[in-house]
Amino acid sequence: MIPDLPDHIDQIKGFLAEDEALALYQHAAHASALGPVLEIGSYCGKSTIYLGLACRGNNSTVFALDHHRGSEEHQQGEFFHDPDLYDAGEGVMDTFKEFRRNIRAAGLDDVVVPLVSDSETTARQWQTPLAMVFIDGGHSLDAALSDYRCWASHVMRGGILAIHDLFADAHQGGQAPYAIYRMAVASGLFADLGQVNSLGILRRL
Ligand SMILES: C[S@@+](CC[C@H](N)C(=O)[O-])C[C@H]1O[C@@H](n2cnc3c(N)ncnc32)[C@H](O)[C@@H]1O
Repeated sequence: MIPDLPDHIDQIKGFLAEDEALALYQHAAHASALGPVLEIGSYCGKSTIYLGLACRGNNSTVFALDHHRGSEEHQQGEFFHDPDLYDAGEGVMDTFKEFRRNIRAAGLDDVVVPLVSDSETTARQWQTPLAMVFIDGGHSLDAALSDYRCWASHVMRGGILAIHDLFADAHQGGQAPYAIYRMAVASGLFADLGQVNSLGILRRL
């Protein structure tokens, strides 16, 4: 039971399973006592709401990073394209309006700081240590590697690195998130706390 979780959370567009959302919330509730949380890939704000509710308990902040133009699989003609999120006038995906509506309705405007930009561009000047980083952005190998290289080093000691969409079996899903998860484990910098469904959790040593 998560206090203040919106009744309509299941209707918010997103890709988190219920057990993953709960695990994300629980880790963020502990980690955010140490500092702010950053997610890469907010989409319409579903994962952001779980992180935001966890951070609010510690008077902490979620930096919600997304260019809101969708990943490869969200573009027109691709499997996860949602025509409701397509701005036909501009000819681009635009999830920011829906994201803002959902964060506001959840009462989290004073907890969530949207960073409407590309992950690599945002990381260029980033200096704030992070208590938790949740990687759920682009799922190509280039995008996942870039997110790992840009953000994993900002996780403070004792902080959490969470990575979504881990599939050891390539028949179940793309392998890029799993590749960076294995890189994190192999680096010796993180303890592997295991997986909840497709959500991998690591703690910075
Ligand atoms: C799978 S969705 C995130 C889903 C969300 N975490 C949830 O569970 O509700 C991936 C998001 O990553 C964003 N994204 C992809 N590549 C990005 C990049 N290089 N910089 C910023 N955002 C990116 C897309 O716009 C998309 O909204």
